[in-house]
Amino acid sequence: MIDATRLLDPRLGVVRQEAITLGMSGAQVFRMLTADGEPVAIVKLVHSRPEELAGEIERLIWLSNLGIRVPEVLGVGEFWFAMRVLPGRPASDPWPAQQRSAVIDQLADAARKLHSTPVENAPFDSSISMVMKDVRGRVAAEALTELEVAFASLGNGQLRLSHGDLSLPNVLLTPSDSAGFVDVGRAGLADPHSDVADLLRSLRSDLNPQFGPADAERFLDAYGRSEIDPERLRLHDLLNSFF
Ligand SMILES: Nc1ncnc2c1ncn2[C@@H]1O[C@H](COP(=O)(O)OP(=O)(O)OP(=O)(O)O)[C@@H](O)[C@H]1O
Ligand SMILES: [Mg+2]
Repeated sequence: MIDATRLLDPRLGVVRQEAITLGMSGAQVFRMLTADGEPVAIVKLVHSRPEELAGEIERLIWLSNLGIRVPEVLGVGEFWFAMRVLPGRPASDPWPAQQRSAVIDQLADAARKLHSTPVENAPFDSSISMVMKDVRGRVAAEALTELEVAFASLGNGQLRLSHGDLSLPNVLLTPSDSAGFVDVGRAGLADPHSDVADLLRSLRSDLNPQFGPADAERFLDAYGRSEIDPERLRLHDLLNSFF
């Protein structure tokens, strides 16, 4: 295993690392701890596609400038970057049953606030058109008929500041502060239904058995059903099936 402690500024006082196994990608993520066991930094490493790391770092800086709670970047190398630990627990952590509704409401609040953040001249276009370019580049046209028909009828929709990978492990909750976001490599201006569809899938998934369909419905109520077009959610579920 790589020794990530030597990548960090010694003033952080990091003496050991712990692998985090929550993520589902090819990235290796380490929690970096002081001698007292206090987590102070996170190091994320990739073995391929360093351009994805660069994209995540640029978005961390962009989002932070927009006032979104994301980790501060502490250091950057060719195949890694370090960030400060964001306080809070991932929404995917086990919660006592009586706290789960509050967790759903916090998630909905966080998503709604993110999607209503004003943005000018966004450098990152994550609209459906952009995502479709990628899909058309690697999937045979015949397999895309249903998606193309749905996209032709619904279009890009309104573009809002969006996370791009809004699953439960990527949202950090505290009792007092607003929610924090990690794993922002796909953040950009997008149809916010994409984030909503991702989070609903995460809530209904077998990977998160403490939550289920009733929580997904509660999320929609708390987010505001007047903002949601069920057809657009279906479009994003279909699009997601190609990833
Ligand atoms: N700065 C941070 N502070 C606290 N926790 C973090 C931080 N960064 C990551 N984590 C925790 O580590 C988990 C894994 O990190 P991350 O989501 O960035 O990686 P991943 O899902 O494996 O990667 P990716 O999808 O970018 O390939 C997160 O779900 C989160 O719970
Ligand atoms: Mg993640």
